[in-house]
Amino acid sequence: MTKAILVRQHGDSDHLRYESIMLPDPGPGEVRIRHQAIGLNFIDVYYRTGLYPPPSLPFIPGVEAAGIIESIGEAVSGFSVGDRVAYAGGPLGAYADARNFPAERLVRIPQEISDKEAAAILLKGMTAEYLLCRTYPVKAGETLLIHAASGGVGQILCQWASAIGATVIGTAGSEEKATIARELGCKHVINYQEEDIPQRVEEITQGMGVPVVYDSVGHDTFQASLACLAPRGLLVSFGQSSGKVPPFDITELSQKGSLFITRPTLLDYVKTSSQLKKSAEALFTICSQGKIEMNIHREYALSEARHAHDDLENRRTRGSSILLP
Ligand SMILES: NC(=O)c1ccc[n+]([C@@H]2O[C@H](COP(=O)([O-])OP(=O)(O)OC[C@H]3O[C@@H](n4cnc5c(N)ncnc54)[C@H](OP(=O)(O)O)[C@@H]3O)[C@@H](O)[C@H]2O)c1
Repeated sequence: MTKAILVRQHGDSDHLRYESIMLPDPGPGEVRIRHQAIGLNFIDVYYRTGLYPPPSLPFIPGVEAAGIIESIGEAVSGFSVGDRVAYAGGPLGAYADARNFPAERLVRIPQEISDKEAAAILLKGMTAEYLLCRTYPVKAGETLLIHAASGGVGQILCQWASAIGATVIGTAGSEEKATIARELGCKHVINYQEEDIPQRVEEITQGMGVPVVYDSVGHDTFQASLACLAPRGLLVSFGQSSGKVPPFDITELSQKGSLFITRPTLLDYVKTSSQLKKSAEALFTICSQGKIEMNIHREYALSEARHAHDDLENRRTRGSSILLP
């Protein structure tokens, strides 16, 4: 038996139930991992509410964790019992003391990175890697806009983009969060609870607009993001923390300057084992160079997952938080 969080029905955080489950032996191609830390991600909220449908009900949420290999199924090579490993992405099931997981989707944790740090940065950091290096390869000297700059993905994006040499304009929901964003490399911060985003971006860029906007907020910022772009700029709409982006008329893209828009997702950028390993390696390298701080905002007991969801949904977190089995 092992302990896990189960969602039997979609709904609010009360539907995260801490229960005992049977864990079978790892199947072919799988290893059993004893989790040391579990990543808390906004996507966990989407699955809980049903915005993203899970494969079945009940299900165990969670897509990211770090831990130690405890046993190995058939047809697994390259891993041994006792190895420190982490994963980010499906299949769901990270909110548990232990689980079975496909070995080909694991990455080894470098010695200088702790299990807690790995669980806090792997998913958010690989997201920052593909967004800044592959969705739109950011160049030194460019000015770009990153929403929710003091959030989990936001903090890593801001630090990585400034390490590349870009000028980062961040948005944040309070003065306290704006200060964090400044400390993490934003040259300019817009408090979007009080200030008009396109107007401030116009002032900062002297009317030029930005070549790219990274928007994880969705519903509340979508139109403002389009209005901040330079002609032929790219809106990277990669999340919906404030709700789904409403349907819109594609001709808006021509009216606003032949704009581009993409709605990317991490899994399409780390689909093959080689893409996954390269992305994780790029992240671990930039972390070990000291260019990204691996701050852990808060640790919650796994049994307290509902408090973690309440904090995340109600904008009370900053940076990354983890759950501890
Ligand atoms: N597409 C991908 O590949 C991918 C991968 C990872 C994450 N994501 C997305 O990236 C986003 C960030 O994920 P995260 O786990 O790092 O979360 P997070 O950014 O730490 O938390 C969400 C933040 O969004 C801001 N926000 C603005 N309006 C909000 C609202 N109405 N309700 C709640 N939050 C609001 C808040 O910051 P302020 O108070 O400063 O506004 C809040 O702290 C999520 O949308 C997630 O789905 C996408």
